[in-house]
Amino acid sequence: MTAAANADPAAAGDPPVLAVHGAAGRMGRQLLAVAASQGDRVRGAWVPAGSVLLGRPVGPDWPGLVWARPDRAAAPEVVIDFSRADAFPEILAWCRTHGVALVSGTTGLDAGQRAEMARAAGDVPVLWSANFAIGVAVLGRLAALAGSLLPGWSAAIVEAHHAGKLDAPSGTALALGRVLAQARGATFDEDAVRADPVRGDAGTGFAVVRAGDIVGEHSLMLVGPGERLEIVHRAGDRGVFARGALHAARWLRGRPPGLYRIDDCLDPAPA
Ligand SMILES: NC(=O)c1ccc[n+]([C@@H]2O[C@H](COP(=O)([O-])OP(=O)(O)OC[C@H]3O[C@@H](n4cnc5c(N)ncnc54)[C@H](OP(=O)(O)O)[C@@H]3O)[C@@H](O)[C@H]2O)c1
Repeated sequence: MTAAANADPAAAGDPPVLAVHGAAGRMGRQLLAVAASQGDRVRGAWVPAGSVLLGRPVGPDWPGLVWARPDRAAAPEVVIDFSRADAFPEILAWCRTHGVALVSGTTGLDAGQRAEMARAAGDVPVLWSANFAIGVAVLGRLAALAGSLLPGWSAAIVEAHHAGKLDAPSGTALALGRVLAQARGATFDEDAVRADPVRGDAGTGFAVVRAGDIVGEHSLMLVGPGERLEIVHRAGDRGVFARGALHAARWLRGRPPGLYRIDDCLDPAPA
């Protein structure tokens, strides 16, 4: 194999040309701000059809960039999507049609949308994560280890988010539940209780808090006789998700088609 074939695509040249889908939302705007501060290249800031923002300037950080609909002329190498589950199929299909890599953090996807994502990943690289905080990716690895070493303990996943979050339990809580179930040799449906986690003596219970402006907190508890192991992650601001998604986009550019996870681009984890 040649040196070029061995080269890490993430290490090559300029940062990828990006378009942001859901660009005017909380995460989209955060992503644009972090991208500007890091010198990333954003050529598309995409909003819904009929948005009052269409055609208006994105702002002083992005001279010449206007809010727009998905457009091939932006020539993105990677689209980053933080929108809504009902908008996800459209951007997935757009990326598939145009051969563009997709990084998505949109949560609340149903089984059909997840299956469609897996099919699209046969044609283009897709990296989806319920949580782009690098600490949460590490939490996933710790959950797998703890679940495999403590298969008989009760598990509870407690998550807290701002009052505006639509889906519950969070995509991260569900993803952690899947990791735990797999580590215990169970299917997610067998393992997930979704009841009062305090009373469950097997499986994984979920508890949800929606209040104020909490950015995102996840606590994994494993409870055994007379002892409890607790692993907690707290996101202090949305910048952590934006930095993780931008790291993922750099990592994904130039990869072959496939369905990737944030865990795949942990090494090296961004500073
Ligand atoms: N993976 C992670 O790390 C992570 C972190 C934070 C949030 N999230 C998830 O990311 C998603 C967005 O979160 P948020 O807090 O930014 O929500 P938000 O503030 O409601 O933003 C969503 C944006 O998507 C836009 N949108 C809806 N349909 C669209 C379409 N067809 N084309 C283009 N844009 C469209 C909305 O526009 P309108 O308001 O005009 O409809 C809105 O601006 C949610 O699923 C959330 O759970 C993930």
